[in-house]
Amino acid sequence: MMATASEQMNNRFFSVSVDGDGVALITLDDRDEAVNTISTDLGEKLLDSWKTLQSDPAVTSIVFASGKKDVFVAGAKIEMLQQAEDATALAQSGQRIFDELAASPKPVVAAMDGATLGGGLELALACTYRIATDNPKTKLGLPETQLGLIPGAGGTQRLPRVVGAQAALDLILTARQLKASRALKMGLVDEVVPAPLLLQVAKARAAELANGRRPPIHGRQARMAKLKKGKANQKLLMALALEDNPVGRRLLFRQAEKAAYAKSRGNYPAIPAAIEAVRAGLDEGMEKGLAKEAALFGGLVHTDVSKQLIRIFFAQTALKKDSGVDDPSVKPRKVNELAVIGGGLMGGGIAYVTAANAKLPVRVQEKDDSALGRAFAHVRSVLDPRVKRRSITRIDREAVMGRITGGTRYEGFGNVDLVVEAVFEDLELKRQVIRQVEAVTKEDCVFASNTSTLPITKLAEGAKRPWNVVGMHYFSPVEKMPLLEVIRTKQTAPEVVATAVAQGKAQGKTVIVVEDGPGFYTTRILSPYGSEAAWLLSEGADIAAVDRALVDWGFPVGPFMLLDEVGLDVAQKVSGTLLEAFGDRMAQPEALRKVLEDGRLGRKNGRGFYSYGSKKKPVDETLYDLLPEGRKRRGFPAEEIQQRLSLRLCNEAALCLQEGILHSPRDGDIGAVFGLGFPPFRGGPFRWMDTLGAVEVVRRLRAFEDRHGARFKPAQLLVDMARKGERFHHD
Ligand code: NAI
Repeated sequence: MMATASEQMNNRFFSVSVDGDGVALITLDDRDEAVNTISTDLGEKLLDSWKTLQSDPAVTSIVFASGKKDVFVAGAKIEMLQQAEDATALAQSGQRIFDELAASPKPVVAAMDGATLGGGLELALACTYRIATDNPKTKLGLPETQLGLIPGAGGTQRLPRVVGAQAALDLILTARQLKASRALKMGLVDEVVPAPLLLQVAKARAAELANGRRPPIHGRQARMAKLKKGKANQKLLMALALEDNPVGRRLLFRQAEKAAYAKSRGNYPAIPAAIEAVRAGLDEGMEKGLAKEAALFGGLVHTDVSKQLIRIFFAQTALKKDSGVDDPSVKPRKVNELAVIGGGLMGGGIAYVTAANAKLPVRVQEKDDSALGRAFAHVRSVLDPRVKRRSITRIDREAVMGRITGGTRYEGFGNVDLVVEAVFEDLELKRQVIRQVEAVTKEDCVFASNTSTLPITKLAEGAKRPWNVVGMHYFSPVEKMPLLEVIRTKQTAPEVVATAVAQGKAQGKTVIVVEDGPGFYTTRILSPYGSEAAWLLSEGADIAAVDRALVDWGFPVGPFMLLDEVGLDVAQKVSGTLLEAFGDRMAQPEALRKVLEDGRLGRKNGRGFYSYGSKKKPVDETLYDLLPEGRKRRGFPAEEIQQRLSLRLCNEAALCLQEGILHSPRDGDIGAVFGLGFPPFRGGPFRWMDTLGAVEVVRRLRAFEDRHGARFKPAQLLVDMARKGERFHHD
């Protein structure tokens, strides 16, 4: 049924107004949702209005803008994708709408302020001219591969035609989001303006385009023209020229496939699919390319990989809204100033995310001036490459540095609202720090510890105000790792938990809250995983083979490389604490002790499982001489290696849930994926155990228990679930 004229101009999704110059402004502003998304319903309404606007002689051009703050269009409606029976047809209907826009004889301008992602960017790509604002919230990208999908409404076809194949593949495969200035440089947008001027400029451009005063050269053409002017850009020009030639293009695609495989190990089908869709479009033309895009999209929607990635996305979104406490009347305390005690590797990173992301003043307390100098140098070392890459300006860098002050005698702590301690991992030292902090801070100052293993309850034993003590466990490198694990003790006040959660979010983290216990959640599941690698080593396994098996399984690095990064001394300390708490299950093989006795600390002293003299970092074969089997290593099937390590991690995660350390399987999945790099396409340990089924998990654990002993004893929770046929997740 055709909508009435007023419906066409004003409906749930957008409103249309036409000004005296004949410029029609379509303001996207979904009445029922906080953000604009692309949906079939919106598409239908748009097509209706579109026909009217095209046939109305008073309308000469069209501008798309958004009525939402900081969002143009955030992407396609994900629920719609999940519910689609025929996702290929769904993609085709999206393509048809954008084809109509692209074929418009009247010029169409996209005026983008805020997030322009996925379907939002595909809409903009179908427009004649694109203007973005310099609002820092204006981000452009095609993040579909992060959800195991590819852009399905023409994105794989129009993006390469606008910015070139190489840049398009980079954007699609990395799911990167660009700020406006970058997008301008790439030719993805034609103009960047200050936000308050957006509509005025967009309407002016629309009118100019309509009366032929401004030729619509943009995108790739404009980029080529711009590049021709700069000497330094000759390399880029060559790359673009190479794409125009079929042989050059074949080379480019072959390289892209190789690089993508090295990273994704064939675990993410959207990656080769995206490359294939872009290739088909450039080699066989737009029509065939669109058909290929829709078909590939349709196949991907129903893969387990995409389903798991979408669940992670939803869990992450839910956590953004989660205050970390059950009682909605509990509010976080206001934090205006923060202090970090110990400005080492972790403290320096925490100071950085506070000053750069939360934009709060932060005071670093160190042992002496030279340590303080190292802390400042650390923050600078994070900022400098960003200035170099031009992702921030020098002024931004100085603004961040300007928020950080330092001292060695607890000066200026009177106004501090939250203290994060990141001194050495030593119980007595940390207790002493709490006492010192309590003596110089306000009654309601929150004290957070970044310990990775020590129970927070033990740290708080000597505290005067234990209700103010909480764990804030960051991951290294703090500026990159997305997770914060907040640990609450039985005494921690709910508003203190809420304060830690709110602060973590302000610092840009995804936050889970867990109960206190040795190693909390993340360290506790990582330790048996790492120690199983050491057991394999002591049985004769090859270091590189073990690491390769786990990288193939989907971890970003293998366990030995990770142990080298963490530091073998640190790992030993952690496992000591866990052994004391949980007994034999956490026992380490002799091999690890011998490696440590040999003075190998890992990357930090250049001696670990790998040697760090050269860029290639080969396995340090001399390490094998410390072990009874020597250099003659035994081959283990990759599957056995993968199962032993992943099952120990998963079983420990189940124990954490059974004991109430974890509040939900969701938190456990997010903690493992974002904190430890558990393969996202498997959805996290609990999703993965659901995929296998409790019966199978228990069967595999028991088989290993028979061969290797009690460290594989299945958690009672798993045994019960297997008997009752239960799952962790119910969606
Ligand atoms: P680090 O050795 O790099 O830094 C510790 C810093 O604390 C040093 O700069 C030292 O000068 C300073 N410090 C020592 N005593 C102090 C005192 N009384 N007052 C002021 N400053 C003092 O160690 P890192 O790696 O930063 O670890 C710090 C804490 O973070 C530890 O509790 C560790 O378990 C935890 N952690 C470490 C992770 C990692 O990957 N390195 C990950 C998560 C937590």
